[in-house]
Amino acid sequence: MTDCLALSKSAIARASGLLADGQLVAFPTETVYGLGADATNDRAVARIFAAKDRPAFNPLISHVASAAAAFDLGVKTPIAAVLASAFWPGPLTLVLDRRPDCPVARLTTAGLDKIAVRVPAHAAAQALMTHFGKPVAAPSANPSGRISPSTADHVMRGLAGKIDLILDGGPCESGLESTVVDASTDQALILRPGGITRNAVADALKAAGFADPIASPIADPTAVTQPVQPVAPGQLASHYAPRAAVRLNATKAAADEELIGFGSVAGSGRLALSLSASGDLIEAAANLFAMLHRADDTGTAKIAIAPVPDHGLGEAINDRLRRAAAPRR
Ligand code: TXA
Ligand code: MG
Repeated sequence: MTDCLALSKSAIARASGLLADGQLVAFPTETVYGLGADATNDRAVARIFAAKDRPAFNPLISHVASAAAAFDLGVKTPIAAVLASAFWPGPLTLVLDRRPDCPVARLTTAGLDKIAVRVPAHAAAQALMTHFGKPVAAPSANPSGRISPSTADHVMRGLAGKIDLILDGGPCESGLESTVVDASTDQALILRPGGITRNAVADALKAAGFADPIASPIADPTAVTQPVQPVAPGQLASHYAPRAAVRLNATKAAADEELIGFGSVAGSGRLALSLSASGDLIEAAANLFAMLHRADDTGTAKIAIAPVPDHGLGEAINDRLRRAAAPRR
């Protein structure tokens, strides 16, 4: 059952409690409605991908109430400081290096060492982030491939029964998603055009003595439509690939392999990890990036992975696994 509550203090408290409990809550922002989950909880985040029926794990934006909270998650560069003070709270997302102590789940950032953070301006979003006190991972609250929702009714029509609560804060102001800027280096890179124009970004940077932003050579480096085989050198550069070689559909490990199991195929090697011994795809999705990191961190040269069925979240898991196993440059 999906409840829909008009904005109120008790609705915010209820939404915050559901998030703490690993549930999904749609909430309004000034751009579009977001489908929120506790960003530090891999399993809750896995449920976002299941509800949206996403065929791949795109990294998600972590929403927080203040710039200070954002810079607890990602490294504050001089450029990031300028853009944050010019545009936050507002429709700007900054991509930063994950801080070593960043508590955000690996699935939220799709295994990448960069994190996308945003401080929304909408009063309901602000109230929810403040009450919850932890980062909220949220893509747009629509089924994958459908248009972005700018009213609670859009969300209800797309996701009824798949999420726990919709906070109704009326129609979104803009309906256009946030501008995504990689501010992790000394050259701002626009990864996705959005609510804040390139000129506005350029003006803020210029006023602080920085160079104009450049457009990413890849329109959206993490778009789901990206082919598994790189068509241009570096196209997969932003994706986390383990340092170790990856072999798929393994039912038995070679002596030098770290095998990550699933279902009836048990893990073996130093860690003997299993994505889900019971064959639960939500649990497997939640474990995927964290376990790839852990297996890689053993220093093994080879990681083998048990077959994962291709239905439901399995499609996204297999998409990511094929990328991890794709030939490296
Ligand atoms: O306005 C918005 O941004 C809305 C509201 C809900 O905040 N959210 C939204 O999320 O549009 P989504 O998931 O549809 O788009 C997230 C964008 C994608 O282009 C994704 O590639 C990029 O942010 N992104 C997220 N994490 C990233 C990362 N670590 N590195 C590079 N790009 C990242
Ligand atoms: Mg979207």
